[in-house]
Amino acid sequence: MPNRKTGSCAGSIDICGLDEMPERGARGFELAMPDADPLPIIVWRDGEQLRAFVNKCPHLGLPLETFPDKFLSQDARTLICSAHGARFNAEGDCTSGPCQGDALTKLDIRVVVRDTKPRLVLERPSGHS
Ligand code: FES
Repeated sequence: MPNRKTGSCAGSIDICGLDEMPERGARGFELAMPDADPLPIIVWRDGEQLRAFVNKCPHLGLPLETFPDKFLSQDARTLICSAHGARFNAEGDCTSGPCQGDALTKLDIRVVVRDTKPRLVLERPSGHS
């Protein structure tokens, strides 16, 4: 279940400070979207690699995690849906499980510097104003 609410500003939506992400790990966030429902997302960091997906499994549309921020396999190479065990690679493609061949919805995130600190922001996804 997403566990952190974040705010937005013009042009992009603030997620968190880069230093709030583990060097290797994933976290869940719920982004406040202007004029739309909140958007649950997963941010997955592997060193310099940062990826984000909508936290909605293509199998039944459930959030992937049962416990906060528990998204990754033990070797931290795949996202796992806790409901029925679907596994997703770094591109968000389901590589095994009941939705094999489907994919998570990928999001466009980047690092910006605000008040001298690097922050992760989401570029507005299509379908959200
Ligand atoms: S809802 Fe994710 S595998 Fe079934």
